[in-house]
Amino acid sequence: MPKPTKTFLRALAGETLPVPPIWLMRQAGRYLPEYRATRSEAGSFLDLCYNPDLACEVTLQPLRRYDFDAAILFSDILVIPQALGQHLAFKQGEGPQLDAIRDASGLGILNVDRIHDTLGPVYETVAKLSTSIPSHISLIGFAGAPWTVATYMVEGKGSKDFANIRRFAYGDPDGFSRLIDILVEATTQYLLKQVEAGAECIQLFETWGGVLSENGFRRWVIEPTKKIVTNLKAVHPDLPVIGFPRGAGLHLIDFKQHTGVDAVGLDSGVPLKWVAENLQPLGPVQGNLDPMYLITGGDEMIEETRRILDTLRNGPFIFNLGHGITPETSPENVGKLVEFIRNYR
Ligand code: CP3
Repeated sequence: MPKPTKTFLRALAGETLPVPPIWLMRQAGRYLPEYRATRSEAGSFLDLCYNPDLACEVTLQPLRRYDFDAAILFSDILVIPQALGQHLAFKQGEGPQLDAIRDASGLGILNVDRIHDTLGPVYETVAKLSTSIPSHISLIGFAGAPWTVATYMVEGKGSKDFANIRRFAYGDPDGFSRLIDILVEATTQYLLKQVEAGAECIQLFETWGGVLSENGFRRWVIEPTKKIVTNLKAVHPDLPVIGFPRGAGLHLIDFKQHTGVDAVGLDSGVPLKWVAENLQPLGPVQGNLDPMYLITGGDEMIEETRRILDTLRNGPFIFNLGHGITPETSPENVGKLVEFIRNYR
């Protein structure tokens, strides 16, 4: 495999760069007026996810405004439950709603064999993107990690306490494993198709890993992630994979060492000096500005960004937020952030 030339892929391969590559989670989204316009042209949010021309357009929108090093496929982690046969709707202002599967008796509706029928338009979006993004920009494909996708499948919507899924997982671990195994298989197939269509890197979003007990984290976060990474690398040994186990705290080292991911995404709560001393020596890290700074802006945003750069840019590092951009973000602050990072020496 020749050495990568794009800065984002070089950092993922372990190079320390004087200016880190930059992208932001949810860089396409409601904070941009052009996104809101395309979204209303598409109809619903899911109509947009399954419309290759418009999904490609919204992926490209932030690249026209900002000097980013990577673009992330526009889709959602919840297309997997939908492709498996679970009913999904996004109600305006209320987030996702699914017909909850509360125990193993509900798993019969899920069918891995037909997922590509639903997901075909997503692969088409990736293929279109791979020929339309500028040549120095890398294309990231993604999926939710099994535990996080399962939280929506079992709770039926976003949750504050995750009581239903913890009850299912702790009370019937063998039944719950069947759900996780289905998700490992579907996610592997889904990501392999994204890579075939042109994705150059994969990010696995484990947004809700932090709610589990120690053993739960090992069994429902580390083990399924490891299976997916192993499956992907069996076919594409050089494919870089970023794991983003939000809220993982002290599990971050085990996560990096036992899953096989190339890089680890950091939420805003992780102490950076600890990262520089303990995690970054094991491989590239990505993060972790609190997205709230993009709303407040000003000197505070710049000082916090400087602190992140000063602590992490002496090793392999990709600049990002600690979680996704929110709809209230000021597009102007995003521009100021990128400009500061580009020029900081
Ligand atoms: O730009 C990008 O980052 C790529 C697209 C992307 C979306 N969702 C688009 C989206 C990605 C990578 C995701 C991941 C995702 N989706 C996660 C993991 C990361 C995270 O943010 O924690 C999760 C948990 C979801 C599930 C999801 N999708 C929820 C809970 C919601 C509703 C909350 C909200 O922000 O409205 C969504 C909707 C969603 N996904 C939107 C976008 C742009 C907003 C939909 C709209 O336009 O109304």
